[in-house]
Amino acid sequence: MDKIRLVGGTALRGEVPISGAKNAALALMPACLLTDAPLRLSNVPRLADTRTMTALLDHMGVQVGQEDASTLVLNAAGVKDTTAPYDLVRQMRASVLVLGPLVARYGQARVSLPGGCAIGARPVDLHLRALEAMGVEIELNEGYINARSAGRLRGARFAFPKVTVGGTENALMAAVLADGETVLENAAREPEIEDLGQCLKAMGAKIEGLGTGTLVIEGVERLHGAEHSVLPDRIETGTFAVAAAITRGRVTLTNTRADLIDSVIDHLRRAGVEVTVSDGALVVDATRNDLQGVDIQTEPFPGFPTDMQAQWMALMCTADGASLITESIFENRFMHVPELLRMGANINVHSASAIVRGVPKLLGAPVMATDLRASSSLVLAGLVAKGETTVRRIYHLDRGYERLEEKLLACGAHIERLAGTGAEAAE
Ligand code: EPZ
Repeated sequence: MDKIRLVGGTALRGEVPISGAKNAALALMPACLLTDAPLRLSNVPRLADTRTMTALLDHMGVQVGQEDASTLVLNAAGVKDTTAPYDLVRQMRASVLVLGPLVARYGQARVSLPGGCAIGARPVDLHLRALEAMGVEIELNEGYINARSAGRLRGARFAFPKVTVGGTENALMAAVLADGETVLENAAREPEIEDLGQCLKAMGAKIEGLGTGTLVIEGVERLHGAEHSVLPDRIETGTFAVAAAITRGRVTLTNTRADLIDSVIDHLRRAGVEVTVSDGALVVDATRNDLQGVDIQTEPFPGFPTDMQAQWMALMCTADGASLITESIFENRFMHVPELLRMGANINVHSASAIVRGVPKLLGAPVMATDLRASSSLVLAGLVAKGETTVRRIYHLDRGYERLEEKLLACGAHIERLAGTGAEAAE
């Protein structure tokens, strides 16, 4: 298995082009199932997860053409199999996002339950309840969701008991072809959902309330093809902003939007990082001030994103003073803590909160990635730690970051990817 080797101590300087959002692309790609006309998606990030989604759609009979490095043309005219098999779903939970489109267009779907995940139980019960409200019959057996609808789905009013990004996406994609009006209350407001909604509207869907917690959808008989550019990845943007801050450098982030990470920018500024926006680029400058500890609590958008919690913790390990980090979305998202402790961090976890006390120096060490965002926090810590850090199991990283080491190298980081050897395969 590949690993990443870093030698810390260089203040990053340079420019980072931000890629398209993984979590938008993973919802936009299954949207092709809602029509038999081509859907052209540009600014699609090249990631392990988008390759897994391509493999799943291909398995169903979707034609997925790669027009150029970041443009896909997806055509579901020839879909012949409405099953999402376990061996693909277990690799990527977002595979469950084919459920809503499949049952809305084909009246049936057999999708493996995602199963467990490192950061939490992550059930899909609310996805299923929303679909049942639209008339879908759901049966669970042999680890699969068997969904069936006698005729067209029917519009319904459904209030999500808790905010769920994937649940909102599945319900939205089902509602656009339903008969009548659907009202989704307490819907997630993440920018990736607004991006999906804009794409669906370009395909002919009738949706009101995008960006708010109440979505009103007037179902239509069919959708047509469209072209859509995936919005910038706000978590990659935040991750590189933290890379600039933790190394006390100055980095310009391009092809992104500041409004996608207002909460992260606010917290960076409160910590002493200078963040300015100039002609569409984000300039993150940590060369002048000492950084102070700042508390965070993760919340649904527009609150502080849970996908930035691990990265923020790495930064707080190097700040002056203490910070309280509360994870309120997932029940097990502190697996980066033991690895940061190996690097000399001072962190104490008390159930859903961690108290971080800044230390003068992190020390390089061999560490192990456990999940996507935990692995990025270890890379961030390695950028500033004294000496050498090697991060193992970086397949986690490759799921969500396109060319991470290249982008860091371009800003002066001492980082390289070491090809794994067979002997380490069991690691
Ligand atoms: C999406 O996951 C993202 N993934 C996650 O990003 C992100 O952390 C999460 O939203 C929260 O923002 C993609 O978009 C592909 P949820 P999702 O449904 O949709 C509970 C990353 O690092 N819940 O909003 O699975 C659930 O257990 C990944 O890029 C139910 O109880 O998240 C969790 O505690 C990690 N029942 C909370 O809601 C349900 O039916 C939020 O989950 C659904 C969710």
